[in-house]
Amino acid sequence: MEIITSSKAMQERALQLKKQGYSIGFAPTMGFLHEGHLKLVTQSLQENDVSVMSIFVNPLQFGPNEDFEAYPRDVERDKKLAENAGVNILFLPERTEIYPNEPSFEINVKNRTGVLCGRSRPGHFNGVATILIKLFNIILPDHVYFGMKDAQQVAVVDSLIKDFNFPIELIPVETEREEDGLARSSRNVYLSDEERSQAPHLYKGLQKGSEAIKKGEVNPSSVIHIIENYIKTNTNGKIDYIEILSFPNLDTLEQIHGKIIIALAVKFSKARLIDNIILEIHS
Ligand code: PAF
Repeated sequence: MEIITSSKAMQERALQLKKQGYSIGFAPTMGFLHEGHLKLVTQSLQENDVSVMSIFVNPLQFGPNEDFEAYPRDVERDKKLAENAGVNILFLPERTEIYPNEPSFEINVKNRTGVLCGRSRPGHFNGVATILIKLFNIILPDHVYFGMKDAQQVAVVDSLIKDFNFPIELIPVETEREEDGLARSSRNVYLSDEERSQAPHLYKGLQKGSEAIKKGEVNPSSVIHIIENYIKTNTNGKIDYIEILSFPNLDTLEQIHGKIIIALAVKFSKARLIDNIILEIHS
């Protein structure tokens, strides 16, 4: 596995690969890799000549009271995992390589951000969009791979690619789960033993909601109520949001129909976990 730390060297390498006619698949990450990240690589390896992974904990997407400093990091372990997964090029820049100067531009994501994590984490998607514009221009991928656990991120990247005409195809990859259903996340390490045993109930709660919809419930509030009760009964987590929206536009719904997302965020003592289910309902 090649490791590149400079943006210029990475871009030159990408341009060289392009000239040679190779396709590039790209999995952006913030490291502390788990099966979910490796699944992105596995798919990229199947669909591209060269697979690039980036590891960069992007300060711009963390709010002032969020966990940027405490975000779990283990670069040496990540390098081994990336290599074993078959990553061809690991882009591992320092902060000064990505943000060398005070930027002259600010990206403001207007749509698809006033709901879900965008509402609870103001500015988060501006930071995500900024880093992705930079990474797309440095790595020049043909295909980009994003996990569906961060479904709102997938929706925002979909708009980003379309709005700015990036010649890139977005490939959403299904959420990777532990055996008990808990969505894999770098933040799961922050859960206490008790919280870890409660955390699978988030997905179970979503499944309860999904079952109610499949049985014919069309009122979003009723479904949200079912999920809320289930989570309050089975966990000590504090519900940040439970929402049902259209997908990928993330519009609020009077009645459940078409392609929808049921999404939630729940705060435990040191970890805020998110999860979702996407459904197509045609009555
Ligand atoms: O999903 C993440 O890990 C991050 O938001 C991303 C896409 C790597 C941008 O920093």
